[in-house]
Amino acid sequence: AAVVQHTFNVENVTVTKLCQKHVITAVNGALPGPTIQVTEGDTLVVHVFNKSPYNVTIHWHGVFQLLSGWADGPSYITQCPIRPGHSYTYKFTITDQEGTLWWHAHVSFLRATVYGALIILPKSRHYPFATPHKQFPIILGEWWNANVIDIENQAQALGVPPNNSNAYTINGRPGDLYPCSKKHTYKLKVVHGKTYMLRIINAALNNQLFFKIANHKLTVVAVDASYTNPYVTDVVLLAPGQTADVLLITNQTPRAYYMAARPYVSAQNAPAPDNTTTTGILIYDQLPSTSPIMPILPAYNDTPTAHKFSSSLTSLVSSPNWKPVPKKLDEQILTTIGLSVSLCGGTNKCTFVSNKPFLRMSANMNNASFQLPQNLSILQAHFFNKKGIYTADFPGQPPLKFNYTDPVLSNSTALLFARQSTRVKQVKYNATVEIVFQDTSLIGVENHPMHLHGYNFHVVGQGFGNFDPVNDRKKFNLVNPVIRNTIGVPVGGWAAIRFQANNPGAWILHCHLDAHLSLGLATVIIVENGPTSSSTLPPPPHDLPQC
Ligand code: C2O
Repeated sequence: AAVVQHTFNVENVTVTKLCQKHVITAVNGALPGPTIQVTEGDTLVVHVFNKSPYNVTIHWHGVFQLLSGWADGPSYITQCPIRPGHSYTYKFTITDQEGTLWWHAHVSFLRATVYGALIILPKSRHYPFATPHKQFPIILGEWWNANVIDIENQAQALGVPPNNSNAYTINGRPGDLYPCSKKHTYKLKVVHGKTYMLRIINAALNNQLFFKIANHKLTVVAVDASYTNPYVTDVVLLAPGQTADVLLITNQTPRAYYMAARPYVSAQNAPAPDNTTTTGILIYDQLPSTSPIMPILPAYNDTPTAHKFSSSLTSLVSSPNWKPVPKKLDEQILTTIGLSVSLCGGTNKCTFVSNKPFLRMSANMNNASFQLPQNLSILQAHFFNKKGIYTADFPGQPPLKFNYTDPVLSNSTALLFARQSTRVKQVKYNATVEIVFQDTSLIGVENHPMHLHGYNFHVVGQGFGNFDPVNDRKKFNLVNPVIRNTIGVPVGGWAAIRFQANNPGAWILHCHLDAHLSLGLATVIIVENGPTSSSTLPPPPHDLPQC
């Protein structure tokens, strides 16, 4: 195994997009930032120098961080942010996983421009399918003309959703349907009759995206760096945080074809989404054709297509890193997820109306609207046994008795008001955990992509309406459920996940729509140390940033 070293200079740079010059924060001056490629078993060492005017952290989305939780990156969860002018070295070994992951800033809205691909090649050099001719990262993103930190602060101050972005992007480029963007449209040159692997990543902040290539079928072979049984489709759906490795066979008439992405917006009665389309061009045999063929993307509210894709994936049991589904459960958590209202105040950057706090929009899990600590990270507080940073009383059940015969169990006004708190769930080393997420419909109803750090989980079931603990459990897939790190919980529905807590640390579990993370749709799972040194989190590195 090798040691792979990178230097990340996080700094402000000027770029031109959508006909204007903009100052953005980026890594090594590039958007997306550098692609990191390792082989499973390698140790990755990334020296991050914060030369930007903002607090920064980098998260390695989907990496297990086995016994290296100090390198996970979410601000105030595993570390205090790297202040301007400071640095931190992230060091960790990548084991038991291969495929496509990514890295991104995990502080405020900075990940809009601070992100890149993280590719883990198989140690064996073999895939569970014929080795593709070539492979390319396809990173979907979102672009704002305004400063993204201002966008977030403004939304927080007013207690409202953030402004829509101004464009979606493919590998940082909006594509030729947006103004002044034609010349820089992403182009992928291929030859006829080969198989390519596209490593697609959704790095957008607040939008799930449908992705298609005109006239071509795509075969999904992995999601979130976990192999799937090959699934042939003409459309791929990715929630923010999710990845999909797809095989593309170039067996169509040589010419040019568009690849395109556009949002899937499940929210009902919400303001109209930005329904524009980002494009790239697939060019066969260097033939610059007159105009590329455009695929027909699903409508933005096409939940049946979204659900068909998400619920059709299964894991590849024969792959080397596959783990069986936990059957005997030590912890069973049922949690509502959704929007709510909270009082302004505390650390909330709310505007006060005539010096009185007012109600603002919030988001919560089981009525706890998660607030980040300020003076110490949760992992430091846990490790050094410092009191007063969090409370280990995250409720394992919703605060009311569910009436499972309600059409929407979660529209009880008892769930409308969520108190702000820093409540975490603490579990024993190696505990087997089941979490059922139940979407609520009080302020709005929508598909929330729930992401867990430090683990992959089995998605044993999902459906619409109320989770029915008797009948839905009978239909759980305990044989080959898809394995992910981010699950889009069906709109107005539920999803059930399972994992074994074999990695001590503090792991944030949150909605990967940044607009909802900042509103409090999160909690933290603290996994205690095990009995031996190989199940004990070592002390933090000496350069861990201080608050
Ligand atoms: Cu990709 Cu906590 O995030």
